[in-house]
Formats: sequence, C-alpha cells, structure tokens
Amino acid sequence: MKRFLPDEAATTAFGKALLDAMPADLAGWTLLLQGDLGAGKSTLARAIIKAAGHTGPVPSPTYTLVEPYKLSRGNIYHVDLYRVSSADELRYLGWNELDDGCRIVEWPDRAPGLIEQADLSITLSYEGEGRLVDIEGLSKRGNQLKIQ
Ligand SMILES: Nc1ncnc2c1ncn2[C@@H]1O[C@H](COP(=O)(O)OP(=O)(O)OP(=O)(O)O)[C@@H](O)[C@H]1O
Ligand SMILES: [Mg+2]
Repeated sequence: MKRFLPDEAATTAFGKALLDAMPADLAGWTLLLQGDLGAGKSTLARAIIKAAGHTGPVPSPTYTLVEPYKLSRGNIYHVDLYRVSSADELRYLGWNELDDGCRIVEWPDRAPGLIEQADLSITLSYEGEGRLVDIEGLSKRGNQLKIQ
C-alpha cells in the first residue's frame, strides 16, 4: 500500500493511524523504517511514540542505539542501526530482550536477518516537497493491518 504524505503533519497523522490499527498490546511487534537520510523515519517513529501516550522529547537513538519508552500499551523501543554493521552487534545491544515491546527500527538493513522477524516494512521516499510511504506486510498480522 502506498500513500502520499504532503507534509510533516501528514507523516505525524500517518503514525497515529498506524498505531490505531495495531492491537492494544504492542508486545512482539517489529516495524522496519526504511528510506534515505532525512526521508522522515525519525519523524514517523516520534509520531508513533507520541500517539502511544509519550509526552516528553523523543531523542534520536543514533548514539544510544536504543531509546526505551514505557507506555500504557506496553514498551516501545526506538532503535537506530545506522552505526551497526552486523547481526552480532545487534545481539550485543540486547536485541533479543526487546521482544516484550514494539521495536521500531531505523536502518534495519544494517543488520541482516531482521526482515524475517519483522511485521511491517515502511519505506519513505522523497516525492516533490513531500514524501511517499510504502507499507508492506512481512507477517500474517502485519498483512492484516487496516490503516485508516
Ligand atoms: N511528509 C513529509 N513531507 C515533507 N517533509 C517531511 C515529511 N515528513 C517529515 N518531513 C521532514 O523531513 C525531515 C525528516 O527528518 P527525519 O529526522 O525524520 O529523517 P530520518 O529519515 O530519520 O533521517 P536519518 O536517516 O538522518 O535518521 C524533517 O525535517 C521533517 O520535518
Ligand atoms: Mg532518523
């Protein structure tokens, strides 16, 4: 499914619609956010985290690799793998322990093997002044999501 997002507000609204389509318990979900530098991956992740009830800042996990959020619908882990270069490093950062929450992953291509574990692949690309978002289901439940 593809959708045009004319501005940042549209990206934010899409993040909320995506979260609304997901089950109340977010545990075990993995969302892959793909796209070039500045395509809007962090903007979308921030929108999802805020829509889930987080009120403070949403810092980039570029250096910490993982930023955890404890929220009423469960934990959300915002992960940025830009600085990761192998599946070993992914294990080292504690990836396997993050399965009690929803993992939102920027730069998933940095760690081979993530696609097999994920529910949705969301690719953002530049389209004029806005962005195009392409949502692809990677699991049964991912394919069944109906995003408004
Ligand atoms: N739909 C949209 N149309 C136009 N601009 C947008 C849209 N969504 C987000 N933006 C803008 O694009 C920029 C995206 O920055 P963001 O940090 O989210 O990108 P990113 O993909 O996470 O980059 P990086 O790879 O560096 O982490 C921001 O300036 C944001 O305001
Ligand atoms: Mg980013």
